Amino acid sequence: MCEPFFPIAMKRTHHCGQLRASDVGKSVALIGWVDSIRDHGGILFIDLRDREGLTQVKANPNSDDATFNAAIYSLRPESVAEFHGEVEARQDGTVNPKMPTGEVEVEARSVVVHNISDTPPFPIEDEKGDKVNEDLRLRYRYLDLRRSKMNKVVRLRHNTTRSIRDYMDGEGFIDVETPILFKSPPEGAREYLVPSRINPGEFYALPQSPQQFKQMLMVAGVERYYQIARCFRDEDLRADRQMEFTQLDIELSFIDREDMYALIEGLMKKIWKDVLGAEIGTPFPRMSYQDAMDRYGVDKPDTRFEMELVDFSEAFANSSFKVFQATVAGGGVVKAFKAPTLADVTQGEMKHLEETAKSLGAKGLAFIKVQDGEWKSPIVKFFSEEEKATLTKRLSLENGDIVFFAASKWEQACAILGRTRLECAELLKKRGRLEISRDQFNFLWVVDFPLMSYDDEQGRYVATHHPFTAPVAEDVQYLDSDPKRVRGQHYDLVLNGVELGGGSIRIHQRALQQKVFEEVLKIAADVVKERFGYMLEAFRFGAPPHGGIAFGLDRLVMILAGLSSIRDVIAFPKTQKGQCLMTDSPTPVTEKQLKDLHIATTVLEETV
Ligand code: AMO
Ligand code: AMP
Repeated sequence: MCEPFFPIAMKRTHHCGQLRASDVGKSVALIGWVDSIRDHGGILFIDLRDREGLTQVKANPNSDDATFNAAIYSLRPESVAEFHGEVEARQDGTVNPKMPTGEVEVEARSVVVHNISDTPPFPIEDEKGDKVNEDLRLRYRYLDLRRSKMNKVVRLRHNTTRSIRDYMDGEGFIDVETPILFKSPPEGAREYLVPSRINPGEFYALPQSPQQFKQMLMVAGVERYYQIARCFRDEDLRADRQMEFTQLDIELSFIDREDMYALIEGLMKKIWKDVLGAEIGTPFPRMSYQDAMDRYGVDKPDTRFEMELVDFSEAFANSSFKVFQATVAGGGVVKAFKAPTLADVTQGEMKHLEETAKSLGAKGLAFIKVQDGEWKSPIVKFFSEEEKATLTKRLSLENGDIVFFAASKWEQACAILGRTRLECAELLKKRGRLEISRDQFNFLWVVDFPLMSYDDEQGRYVATHHPFTAPVAEDVQYLDSDPKRVRGQHYDLVLNGVELGGGSIRIHQRALQQKVFEEVLKIAADVVKERFGYMLEAFRFGAPPHGGIAFGLDRLVMILAGLSSIRDVIAFPKTQKGQCLMTDSPTPVTEKQLKDLHIATTVLEETV
């Protein structure tokens, strides 16, 4: 319809969040997006928006300038336009105290229309935009990011990385980039492979983390390294997991765990101060893995609310409720917790709780409701008076409460109740009976993890975190005789039930590292040589004692922004199916591309 038009843009004099009453009378130029247009009896009121805010522009078409009139009437929401005019004080009664620029408006003298927008597929507004289907927002992410809420998050992320860089720099850390094309390391999660054109049939792997390179940097004498590093893991995606995510990755030499705690507490203090203007208390509390599991049923406890798990194994060792008695006799445990006031749980909610418990291997989710002064439960008939008295006392039972039980192996019983506890917290929140303030930040170090755990499927021990973690010195003696008993010098930083980061003091001596690989983890000697040979070799040339940690930057920003999905703090995230809806990736590639890479593909039938 229109001729292509290339106006020469004038420079803006102010941004759209800047003008105040003290600017009245000034000639200004503003440029931005048309947020809204209101026609008040022929006079157009246009809210012009840029990333800093909104200013009301008054465009009065009652002039002799037909071009001006045509231009202002051509504007649609989200069009880009430039206005030149004078700042005026708004008339009494039209001042908008909610807008920082609400005392003034700009009377337009001329306008340059840079681009007329089509009707956007959804409203560029915080409230309405939130209700839009997420796939649509991701398909038009550049529009979604225009919403002020999203714009704030993009900036908050920037402020976070800036604060991190300031702190790390002040503490003598050096930012070193490590390769994205790496070799395939056995670090747990599945990795992405990249074919090598010039080495037919060979592949790189995208790094799950810069772990091995950062350790090599310590051998290289860098002493204090950090990087804001992209990591890749071919995992099933969830609200707090992306296939491509960012870590704040840190490694330093000549330190112990206490140094690490102090360093990170200082970092968090600074981030909270810089980004939220909030003071957080340090040092952070510490809890052993054993305690975290015992009391909260998870290695990343949300300590903002109670509902702690209690062990009743002893009380039910001779119970006439056979399920409990037999579990204890078989070396398992009976654990329970009380959800206060939740006896009014609905049938649907109960069914959901049971299904979740069963998905974790529970045979059932026994419960007792205390209602109208009575215990309502299919199992209460089996309980002795003494058992009832023990429950009442240790759980401080009151009318309206509900108790959930799990009888199983320790780890499984903890996990089942840990998850049930979190779901009960959600149900209580929904009922307005559990309130958690948005600015409550419960940091917690979880420490003393077992170095290894036994993997029934593989029939061998596997590293709880990764195979480079050093054992606690006094536990080294059990490496051969009782590997389960060996604690690792590992630490996780948990915030409000989210695992924010984790790391460890590393093994830096070749003999111990080789022993862990070959004798404890039972990785074949040739595989060790192939995968970690360079590392063992490096340790021959004076490797300093060292340790490190990595934080999920996306998770950190998510919590700072008060959001519950990391997709909302990543500019261009992937969907749960690993797709980028805006660019429509992944896509098939041509035969020629595959041929150049020496690759033939066969899509197996069962995957189609
Ligand atoms: P780890 O595997 O525990 O440790 O990862 C460190 C932190 O990275 C974040 N994270 C993720 N965030 C988003 N999406 C994912 N898929 C994802 N996976 C992990 C978490 C986690 O705490 N090299 C070691 C660190 C070390 O030992 O120094 C490592 O990568 O917040
Ligand atoms: P049953 O006697 O097997 O019918 O179980 C009685 C109640 O105990 C039911 O509500 C089951 O869901 C529950 N239950 C069964 N096994 C377990 C278990 N291992 N842990 C907790 N509750 C269980």
